[in-house]
Amino acid sequence: MAKQLWKPGNMLYPLPVVMVTVADRDGKANILTVAWAGTVCTNPPMVSISVRPGRYSYPILKETGEFVINLSTRDLVYAVDYCGVRSGRDVDKFERLHLTKAAPSRVSAPLIGESPVNIECKVRERKPLGSHDLFLAEVMAVHADERYMDENHRFCLELARPIVYSHGVYYECGEALGSFGYSVRRRNS
Ligand SMILES: Cc1cc2nc3c(=O)[nH]c(=O)nc-3n(C[C@H](O)[C@H](O)[C@H](O)COP(=O)(O)O)c2cc1C
Repeated sequence: MAKQLWKPGNMLYPLPVVMVTVADRDGKANILTVAWAGTVCTNPPMVSISVRPGRYSYPILKETGEFVINLSTRDLVYAVDYCGVRSGRDVDKFERLHLTKAAPSRVSAPLIGESPVNIECKVRERKPLGSHDLFLAEVMAVHADERYMDENHRFCLELARPIVYSHGVYYECGEALGSFGYSVRRRNS
């Protein structure tokens, strides 16, 4: 098995790709696409996003310490890409993409109504790392779209057709291969 040795770089794929919403002190909202995002703690629930200081959203994040992570889906892939290649300096992305601003409960940044899950976050720590600053944030509230609840009130995220980002390409999540713990679960036969 021959493998090429590459110089150090980011090759941890696939990744979630999310739309992060922010709002400045005057209430002007913006959206930026983030793939350098992660879950970092269960209790308290904490997430991270890494953002380059040059982004229009960066000083807003730094000053307000608030943002919302909006999960992305197949239907939102155009918006995901657009929010990652156009800046809020030049265009109102909510308006341009006809996205709905929905009311948050604990932060000032709006939710994207079309997204199946919105995660309201408050920044607890900012760590400059080099090209990006890491924002470690606590989850303050989660909004889940009732359209994806089944009759047993289980939230079926797969019905929203979530997408991932892998080495420059967006993919829709595919076939379910097993559920958590299936490898050790006893089968009924
Ligand atoms: C798929 C994808 C993933 C991205 N991930 C990040 C990221 O993790 N951090 C970041 O700072 N920028 C990331 N970007 C770039 C920003 O989303 C992009 O520069 C955007 O225009 C910034 O918006 P703003 O200037 O309105 O804040 C990504 C772009 C794409 C297309």
